[in-house]
Amino acid sequence: MPSISFDTNNLIFSLQGYNVSSFIGIDTDGGLRHYYTGRKVETFTNPSYVMTHNPRVFAACPDENDPAFSESDVPMVYPGWGRGDLRYPALHIRHHDGNTISSLKYAAHRIESGKPELSGLPATYCEKSDECTTLTITLRDNVNKIEVDLLFTVFSNVSAIARSTLVRNTSEHSIEILNAQSMAIDFLDSDFELLSLRGAWAREFEMQSRQLQQGVTSVHSNSGNSGHFFNPFIALKRPDSNEFQGDVYGFSLVYSGNFLAHTEVSAYDQTRVMMGINPHNFRWQLSPGESFQTPEAVMVYSSDGMNGMSQNFHHLYRTRLARGKWKSTPRPSQANNWEATYFNFNEEKIINFAEHCKRHGVGRMTMDDGWFGCRNDDTSSLGDWVVDENKFPKGLKSLADSVRDKGVEFGIWVEPEMFNKDSNLYRSHPDWMLHTAGHPASHGRNQYILDLGREEVTEYLYNCLEQVFAATKTTFVKWDMNRHMTEVGSAVLNSDQQQEAAHRYILGLYKLLERLFKRFPEIVWENCASGGGRLDPGMLYYMPETWTSDNTDAADRLHIQYGASLVYPISSIVNQVSPAPNHQVGRSTPFAFRNAVALFGSMGYICDITSLSDEERQIAKHYLDIWGKYNSLIFNGQFWRLSPPTNTRFVSWAVIDDAGENGLLAIFKQRARAAAAYEYIKLCGLKNNSLYRVKMLSEPSVRYRMADGKKIPWPYADHDAIYSGAELMNLGFALPPEFVHDGDYKEFIYSVTLVN
Ligand code: GLA
Repeated sequence: MPSISFDTNNLIFSLQGYNVSSFIGIDTDGGLRHYYTGRKVETFTNPSYVMTHNPRVFAACPDENDPAFSESDVPMVYPGWGRGDLRYPALHIRHHDGNTISSLKYAAHRIESGKPELSGLPATYCEKSDECTTLTITLRDNVNKIEVDLLFTVFSNVSAIARSTLVRNTSEHSIEILNAQSMAIDFLDSDFELLSLRGAWAREFEMQSRQLQQGVTSVHSNSGNSGHFFNPFIALKRPDSNEFQGDVYGFSLVYSGNFLAHTEVSAYDQTRVMMGINPHNFRWQLSPGESFQTPEAVMVYSSDGMNGMSQNFHHLYRTRLARGKWKSTPRPSQANNWEATYFNFNEEKIINFAEHCKRHGVGRMTMDDGWFGCRNDDTSSLGDWVVDENKFPKGLKSLADSVRDKGVEFGIWVEPEMFNKDSNLYRSHPDWMLHTAGHPASHGRNQYILDLGREEVTEYLYNCLEQVFAATKTTFVKWDMNRHMTEVGSAVLNSDQQQEAAHRYILGLYKLLERLFKRFPEIVWENCASGGGRLDPGMLYYMPETWTSDNTDAADRLHIQYGASLVYPISSIVNQVSPAPNHQVGRSTPFAFRNAVALFGSMGYICDITSLSDEERQIAKHYLDIWGKYNSLIFNGQFWRLSPPTNTRFVSWAVIDDAGENGLLAIFKQRARAAAAYEYIKLCGLKNNSLYRVKMLSEPSVRYRMADGKKIPWPYADHDAIYSGAELMNLGFALPPEFVHDGDYKEFIYSVTLVN
């Protein structure tokens, strides 16, 4: 059981979670200090050993009797503004008289088992109250009469600390919150590299790392959603850490809108980390008696490198953030018609697809964009969630029944947050647009955004969607969102509240999703925003899986899936086999390679499965069989990144079950190389003294190799041998010799099975 205690002599809170300890103290001025977070330390009694007040020339000292104390160089837990700490603050408020000072001092605290819900926001949860312990520290600004609750939750089996903040206006006047971060933490040194996930449409989840130096380094989103450009995640890693060892602190925001992940190295070499709603273009009016709840930020600590960090995130997010029946249960494999038909389909084609799904052993047919209104391209009909009777004269219900009659499940695509100008919805409610009056409205893909902060808009959407999902008895919904927000404003907010519109939108979205989630517990919800544009922990709370990228090229997917796995469990990652040449990058990779890459997540097909060749059909069957046999392991095992995509030779990863007994090892050759060295992959997560059988699964595409322009049998195709765990983890698994030169883009998938 995780524990939190308060040492009344030394005024120190001790947070003891699974494999992580944290100490927070109350300083002589009543301010909170962060002493330590990291590897387990059970007791800590002497704060002055870690931190004494240093007289700093030029620093502002708030106490006339103490020339040594200044806020400018102490490690804060939730810094306010205006009293000597010149770093960026976590809280910035404009009070009724125009002052913007926040001086936050300890007022009270509460320790309780369990974890409270955050009103209207997604958050991690516990299923039994003894799984988590929560500390709430209340800080008070005695001059401005503002209270702040800081929540810290530690968990029994994950090395994580969940943080959130509630700001209460206990004054008699309205205030304007200019910035309220979810969390802040100051580390006592700055010897860190900052790791983040950057990208763009179809190029999501690229890992980027840089050494921290004095000053600010941050990643953020301004696009209204968490966005393609950066994921709401950063990690601070010690320079000597890597995938397998060393100290890494990961930070992840459970939010789907504009975010900021901020680091600042101070003049005294401390490092501040803050995470929360992006304060740029944000303001929130808070009347007397009202409170503002920030989203949750999750900090994960690992002494076992980045794999350890990711495994903590995976475990927490798969089991205590995702919800419902499908959170970690393998979902049926699916075929989606998008890259096969785009908008050009009708009843006959969809039913034909369903028939082929059944034939190939695919569990679900998902009908993508183009089934509603009069949508034959992307210029019209978003907002009109009624079936296009030209394409489906017998209606949606009949279509869904016919798909099911073929023996597969029926899934459907929607993009509810949008409307086109060419739609009945726009014609009757142009003012429902998320928009700032008087400015021309920018479009994205010809579409405009509905103001989900308005009750009548979400009510309309709920009613339309409820009807479609109930009538079709669909068991799968792909929920898309395909543009950035611009000219953000709301027709129903007063001028002082216009900068609340973006956050109100996200709150409205969450409310709508919660209602639908509760109404349709059987549905598998797939999150999508032109691929990974809103792949974030907030959406994971409602939707257990995400279409990771519109880039379906298997070679690029290695990078994308590798990067996404830094934070997101592979059970939440949707991979689909696409046509060759690939529609996004024009590259051709072998069909078997595409299948093998898609295996590691929620597997499916986005190519035309009605026109597979005999050989492709065989390969698809082979991989669907592997997926069927191993999907529970893939969803629930520990994911290990073994060799990164920056290694131009090969990418490797493995999934090993928690007991260290069964696993899958994947090696994906990127580029062949003449006269290459011997190469090895060191496995992880096995038992040293046990024996394992390592057997090649990825036939038939590597059954031959090229020599002197001819195909010759490849002797390693039937690899099947016994190794000890220690051998596989220390000597490594030797890659077959021919691995070096038989062409690019080859897959080598092995089962790893305990034999004693
Ligand atoms: C987005 C999605 C695609 C597809 C199209 C349909 O781009 O990411 O998978 O659904 O919309 O318009």
